[in-house]
Amino acid sequence: MKIAIFPGDGIGPEVTAQALRVLETLSLPGLTLFEGDVGAAAYRRHGHPLPEETLEMARAADAILFGAVGDFACDDLPRALRPEQAILGLRSELGLFANLRPAAGFPGLEHLSSLKPEVARSIDLLVVRELNGDVYFGDKGERMSAGGREGWDAMSYNEAEVRRIAHTAFRAAMGRGKRLTSVDKANVLETSRIWRETVIAVSGEYPEVELEHMYVDNAAMQLVKSPGQFDTVVTGNLFGDILSDQASACVGSIGLLASASLGERQTDYGTFGLYEPIHGSAPDIAGQGKANPVAAVLSLAMLLRHSLGREEDAARIERAVEAILADRVFGGDLGGTASTEDIGDAIVRKMVTTS
Ligand code: NAD
Ligand code: IPM
Ligand code: MN
Repeated sequence: MKIAIFPGDGIGPEVTAQALRVLETLSLPGLTLFEGDVGAAAYRRHGHPLPEETLEMARAADAILFGAVGDFACDDLPRALRPEQAILGLRSELGLFANLRPAAGFPGLEHLSSLKPEVARSIDLLVVRELNGDVYFGDKGERMSAGGREGWDAMSYNEAEVRRIAHTAFRAAMGRGKRLTSVDKANVLETSRIWRETVIAVSGEYPEVELEHMYVDNAAMQLVKSPGQFDTVVTGNLFGDILSDQASACVGSIGLLASASLGERQTDYGTFGLYEPIHGSAPDIAGQGKANPVAAVLSLAMLLRHSLGREEDAARIERAVEAILADRVFGGDLGGTASTEDIGDAIVRKMVTTS
């Protein structure tokens, strides 16, 4: 079993270090780890945010554990050299089109949600975000116009792209509450019209799943009004990016939510994938031991489940995380004083004492 570790920038290396301590605690036989450079760290060392050797390492692995990329010092670099190109490049080069972002409340954390506790208690949803298309990867550019410089980013989805993410979402819904909400902007966008018609066509193959459609503006409102109504949500790249950050504040903190990015490639143990927190490099708290490593640790649990077929180890990590949160081991993002390392310590200790 080969895992490529790409810690990246800012708090990326800090939270990844704690996930690696948790991985060590499992003492998995036959595991090899490779570490590679991504983001601003890679740009400084190799002149590119996603060097060829990193990409090769990714291709040779069964799974990737990714920290975060992004550095405000790189804001003026040409787009192709910006740190964010590392994660965008990995997602597209490796065909990782399905981004699973679960958002479920942790017992005892309801009072830390930005919602009323009784509303927060009801959250248990999965965002299935398409990851290889949309405005992210459409034609983009800059030209002169009568109004000065003008930029554009084309939004598009073709039927094949929508069909494959729809299948992922319907299958995920089958394994959950059998309800799927497709979020789009079909009242305005041609992209969304094709999206909606294609999702409806695919729904014929999943008669047990109850499908509804919701415009993205309403979905953003419903998510804070009554998040308990959602089970599985499928949406495009940009809407999914925004709604999942919003869902994290409903749970309690962006430092809590993990993600899996999957494609079609199978390995000897499961589905090849990249696993990362939904948060970024958080330059405002980097290097201060203030980052919550839970999202990174839970991303490791998703890696073990989806790519390495180790459900029991994944569940063991998730139980330990739930237990330390119930013990109120909180960092600054949850109003506590625990450092990144304290939280890692507590998770490791819980795993050792309760296994
Ligand atoms: P961010 O997610 O990095 O931070 C947003 C806010 O949440 C900040 O106040 C930060 O301190 C806080 N936060 C984030 N993670 C936290 C954690 N684990 N514990 C406690 N607090 C946490 O988003 P941003 O500030 O908009 O972006 C910063 C950089 O990260 C940018 O360069 C952006 O492009 C990049 N980014 C990268 C990824 C990725 O690598 N996948 C994701 C999002 C943003
Ligand atoms: C995320 C991030 C990325 C995205 C950026 C860094 C390209 O916000 O992983 O959610 O927009 O997908
Ligand atoms: Mn994001």
